[in-house]
Amino acid sequence: MGGFNFGFPEALTQTAKDIDGLFGMIFWITLVVFVLVEGLLAIFLIRYKRKHPDKQGYAIHGSTKAEVIWTLIPALILVFIGVWSSGMVYTIQTPPSDVYEIKVTGMKWAWQFEYPNGAKSYGELHVPNDRNVMFKISSKDVIHSFWIPEFRMKQDAVPGRVTSFTVNVKDIAQAGTEYKERIICAEYCGNNHSKMLANLFIDDGKQFDSWVETEKTRKKTDAASVIQANGCTSCHTIDGGKSAGPSWKGLADSDHKLANGQTVKADDAYIKESITNPNAKVAEGFQPGMMPTFQLDDESLKNVVDYIKTLK
Ligand code: CUA
Repeated sequence: MGGFNFGFPEALTQTAKDIDGLFGMIFWITLVVFVLVEGLLAIFLIRYKRKHPDKQGYAIHGSTKAEVIWTLIPALILVFIGVWSSGMVYTIQTPPSDVYEIKVTGMKWAWQFEYPNGAKSYGELHVPNDRNVMFKISSKDVIHSFWIPEFRMKQDAVPGRVTSFTVNVKDIAQAGTEYKERIICAEYCGNNHSKMLANLFIDDGKQFDSWVETEKTRKKTDAASVIQANGCTSCHTIDGGKSAGPSWKGLADSDHKLANGQTVKADDAYIKESITNPNAKVAEGFQPGMMPTFQLDDESLKNVVDYIKTLK
């Protein structure tokens, strides 16, 4: 098939290439059968109708030979496709024994990644290029779907369950490459489903190891890190714009209308409660249960509240 791959995104693993190969094979078989069948039909129509414009065709009452042929050939094609694709499904479903596990957590509306040493990254996933990487996928709230087109892999993120798939980008993906917003949620999960994106980094193995060590020890309690970590701005704008949740602009110390008709002063205590127990006091125009609960340490919480207070 040369370099032609149907305009698919780059394939970063051997499995992805194999899947493209399977797709291509099925496509070309289908194309040949289509052209053959429709071509013959067209030829017969034109040729015999032109010769005998007034004649009806013969009524043929069965031909065992023809029927055996047109049953057997498609059956063999299907068995061929079936054997090839089930072999591939088996390969995909049987992970190698030596895997490097990365925990993937979906939540409304962001992705979190946790590495074996406890380091976490948010909105970006780093994949080392020298080993088998297994994603252990789950969800904090509703069903999401973890999709990276470049891996040709998509797996539901289901609360209370762990799903997985394994990739190996060795010798195929280029280290040091970033794939922006190529981690996609592929299961409709509410207002900001389409914004539930993250970046993919392919790292050289050694660079990855030092990166993951640095991430482990880096204290991330500053407002910017905490906000990115928890995907706050996928639902809260900082400029007064509309989104899934109330905008942060002008929120602090305002008289804040609640869904139950009451008005509260949006002081520090209120904002903190709205983060750690968002359903206690729901703002006017929003439904309870929209926002997940966030467990933040005191320092992180204070930094976020202080930041919100700067948005006058
Ligand atoms: Cu998460 Cu759509």
